[in-house]
Amino acid sequence: MSKSNRPDGSQQRHRENADPDESIRPLPWFLVMLLGAMAMWGGFYIYITPSGEDSSYGDQRTIETLRPPVPVAGGGVLVDGKLIYGGKCAACHQATGLGVAGVFPPLAASEWVIGEEKTLTHILLHGIVGEIEVKGVVYKGAMPAWQSMSDAELAGVMTYIRGEWGNKAAPITAETVKTEREATKARTAPYNGGAELKPAS
Ligand code: HEC
Repeated sequence: MSKSNRPDGSQQRHRENADPDESIRPLPWFLVMLLGAMAMWGGFYIYITPSGEDSSYGDQRTIETLRPPVPVAGGGVLVDGKLIYGGKCAACHQATGLGVAGVFPPLAASEWVIGEEKTLTHILLHGIVGEIEVKGVVYKGAMPAWQSMSDAELAGVMTYIRGEWGNKAAPITAETVKTEREATKARTAPYNGGAELKPAS
């Protein structure tokens, strides 16, 4: 019989290490003191730190710096068009102004956006239903009317889309929106596509 094959298993028992045992070892006193001191200092620091004041860290810009009112010729200020665009237009025309291929036409480099300001104002005031060609592609969808927006808001959002994404068209004033709103007030339905818009302006 070989040595490793003892039937009573004593060979295996003999090979194993003794079970480890654990004695109680408290944290060293200086560590306890240190932790206690740190906790007290932390509490004291929170207590003495003034709250409710402007932090000297982080983004120092205020809402005013982020959204400076833009004075326009003839008095008044322009509403932040970017904000309106993000809230009302970006869902369809996208933040990039590129729209969604085949569904929502682009506003970037669109002839309707950078073209005649009256036409653009009419589009925003009354919406479009039917075929409209934008940058050589025909779209057949529905663009909502935005009559509920104020003259200043419409001027703001149109000025924004005319100056964003490489577009370089002149701003549109609230005065223009007011005039066009008055001039087209008889209209109750959206424009029937691009064909009706061109002569309408
Ligand atoms: C529900 C989706 C939707 C929303 C929201 C929307 N549009 Fe449109 N827009 C369209 C569609 C669809 C067309 C094309 C209409 C057609 O095919 O008859 C269009 C066309 C246009 C056009 C003319 C075509 C072009 O690409 O230049 C302009 C300008 C425009 N939209 C501006 C805006 C602005 C500014 C807003 C926000 C105030 C806005 N749209 C919000 C869907 C939308």
